[in-house]
Amino acid sequence: MKSLKNSKFLILGAGNMGIAFIKALLQNKILASKIFILEKRISPELKKIKLKKKIKVLKQASRLPKNFRPDIVLLAVKPNQLDSAVSKELINIISDSLIISIIAGKKISALKKITRNKNKSVRAMTNTPVSLGMGTSILYFDKGIKERYKNLAREFLALVGQVNEAKNEKAIDSFTAIYGSGPAYIYLIIESLIKISSRAGLKNSENMVIQTFLGSLLLLMSGNSDAKTLRENVTSKGGTTQAALSILNSQNGLPKLLGRAIEKAKKRSIELSRD
Ligand SMILES: NC(=O)c1ccc[n+]([C@@H]2O[C@H](COP(=O)([O-])OP(=O)(O)OC[C@H]3O[C@@H](n4cnc5c(N)ncnc54)[C@H](OP(=O)(O)O)[C@@H]3O)[C@@H](O)[C@H]2O)c1
Repeated sequence: MKSLKNSKFLILGAGNMGIAFIKALLQNKILASKIFILEKRISPELKKIKLKKKIKVLKQASRLPKNFRPDIVLLAVKPNQLDSAVSKELINIISDSLIISIIAGKKISALKKITRNKNKSVRAMTNTPVSLGMGTSILYFDKGIKERYKNLAREFLALVGQVNEAKNEKAIDSFTAIYGSGPAYIYLIIESLIKISSRAGLKNSENMVIQTFLGSLLLLMSGNSDAKTLRENVTSKGGTTQAALSILNSQNGLPKLLGRAIEKAKKRSIELSRD
C-alpha cells in the first residue's frame, strides 16, 4: 500500500484551495515530480510555484504523460465547473485513484456519477485557513471504501490542518454552515470591534482587536479552563462585562442570532447540493 510520501498526485483546479494543497504537499517534502496540476488559468501565484519548484501545470488531461495514473486526485474546481472538467480522458486516468473532492454541495452520489469511480470517492469540506495549514476539515466516507484509502484521505487532509469525520453526509451541510463559512463570522466580529474602537477615538484599533482575539484564544488553548469559565472570570458582578453581556447574552442576543444565521446557511447548503 502506498503512503502519502510515495504517492502521485493530480490536482484538478489550482485556485485558492488547490494552491493551498499544492503548497502543503511541497512543504511536506513531496517531490514536485510527483505532482501534476490541471488548471485552465495560471494565476501569478501558480506561475511562481511552477517556476520555482518545476512543477507540471497542464491545461488539459490529454497533455498528461501517457501512463500517468495518480494515486490521489484532489477535485478543487468550482461546483459548476466539475462536469466539464472531468473529461472522458480524465475519467480513464483516474479510474483507480483515490478521489477527494472539496467541492461545496457535490454529493458523493454526484461525484461517483461524474468520475465513474465508485469505490474510492471521498467527499470533504474545509475552510480558508488551509492556506496556512490551519484549516478545519471534515471527511465523509461512503460505505464500501477500504480502511487503507480512508487513512490515505485522512493523511492528505491533515497536510492542511485538523481533520474530523462526518457520521453521515448530511453532517456536511452543518459543517459548511458552521466551519466552512465560520471564518467570515469571526472576521465580521473583528471588523465590528475595529469600527467601534476607532469611532471611540482609540488609535491602533486594528492591532488591539487582533491582539485581544489572539490573546484570548491562546489563553483558551493553554488548556486550563474552558470558554465558559474564562468568560465568567472576566465577568465580575455589577461590572462592565456584565453590562455588555446582559445585551449580548440576552434571549435574542448573540447565541440566538448565530443559531439563526447558521440555520440559514445550512438551508442554503442543502439547496445548493445537487445529486
Ligand atoms: N473558498 C472556500 O472557503 C472553500 C472552502 C471549502 C471548499 N471550497 C471549494 O473548493 C473549490 C475551489 O474553490 P476556490 O475558492 O479554490 O475556487 P477558485 O479559486 O475559482 O479555483 C478553481 C480553479 O479551477 C479552475 N478550473 C475551472 N475549470 C477547470 C478545468 N476544466 N480544468 C482545470 N481547471 C479548471 C478555475 O479556473 P477559472 O478561474 O478560469 O475558472 C480556477 O482557477 C470550490 O468547489 C469550493 O466549493 C472552497
